[in-house]
Amino acid sequence: MLSSRLSRLPKYLFAEIDEAKNEAMRSGIDVIDLSIGDPDLPTPRPIIDTLYEAALKPENHKYPSYAGMISFRKAISEWFERRFGVLFDPNSEIIALIGSKEGIAHIHWAYLEEGDISIVPDPGYPVYNNATILTGATPYKVPLREENNFFIDFDTIPEDVKQKAKIIFINYPNNPTSAGASYENLEKVVWFAKKYNIILCSDLAYSEIYEDEKPLSIFNIPGAKDVAIEFHSLSKTFNMTGWRVGFAVGNKNLINGLLAIKSNVDSGVFNAIQEAGIRALQPDMEKYTQETREIISRRKKFMTESLEKIGLKVYKSKYTFYIWVKNLEGHSSKDTAKKFLKEIGVVVTPGSGFGEAGEGYFRISLTAPDDRIKEASERIKKLFIS
Ligand code: MLT
Repeated sequence: MLSSRLSRLPKYLFAEIDEAKNEAMRSGIDVIDLSIGDPDLPTPRPIIDTLYEAALKPENHKYPSYAGMISFRKAISEWFERRFGVLFDPNSEIIALIGSKEGIAHIHWAYLEEGDISIVPDPGYPVYNNATILTGATPYKVPLREENNFFIDFDTIPEDVKQKAKIIFINYPNNPTSAGASYENLEKVVWFAKKYNIILCSDLAYSEIYEDEKPLSIFNIPGAKDVAIEFHSLSKTFNMTGWRVGFAVGNKNLINGLLAIKSNVDSGVFNAIQEAGIRALQPDMEKYTQETREIISRRKKFMTESLEKIGLKVYKSKYTFYIWVKNLEGHSSKDTAKKFLKEIGVVVTPGSGFGEAGEGYFRISLTAPDDRIKEASERIKKLFIS
């Protein structure tokens, strides 16, 4: 029998969507998948070439180090300084991750006790909520509202929750809403975390997917290192979701806590993948990321315009490769997604899958080839005409 903790969890959102999608495909529907944020573009060639060379070296076939190769952590610190102007000590303030999802899940195990509270944004990446439940702690869902640009309204959090909470997660650029955060927003979170002595976890997986203004790191706010840890991913930046590589930077005690958990449950990232990661973080790779940004911007403009033409309401943002759209009139987000799949073979993610406050919206991920995105927009148009 499953443990009571595991039985309290819903099925993982994208596993559930995969099932519905596979069933539709089996019944002969030509499915266009705009659900999971899994880039269609290839990993840049120099990264693949580096992996190939690195995989040939016998010394890379042994166990990696738990915290990650020092050369990888140095490359991370140099990238971080170039990108955000913030310095981290590669020896104590950086850790390699088997994808940011892994680190996000494990940080909860390092710091939450049964009965504790973590503050979880709703809608939000399901792992913040689910990892909290797995530790036996309780998530306090703080709703992100459109009128607030999907930022947390701290005044709505009851005082006893603020006093008791051990962890708060933020994620800007935001999944699923695509909202960004201003300097003032981030300043507020750091102030809040310090005032209530809460571990501030920032998920910055979408830091490089923007149109013009570069998103900030939580560490651009003075004093953040006292309370924060930030999770980064190579997945979305370099189209490397399948490679499973990311990293965390931040307060050295928090990095150590994460390392203590990880050394008990995993054995680190394959060295050859870390060497490829070093290659990805070199300055000359920026041209590939810039190209990705241009493709995403073009797709976003196209899809937003075609949805608006048929009267759908889109939340306007210049971040991430997601579009956050109001439901079809008179339908819940699950019904909207079901109707899309059943009637036009287009898979989108219901907003309620990201939490109750996501009801009212569905998410489109622009991670399919241009011609499929165009075809999806035609089918959506036809659905409306009919
Ligand atoms: C998403 O589509 O929300 C994410 O890409 C899923 C994930 O990273 O696990």
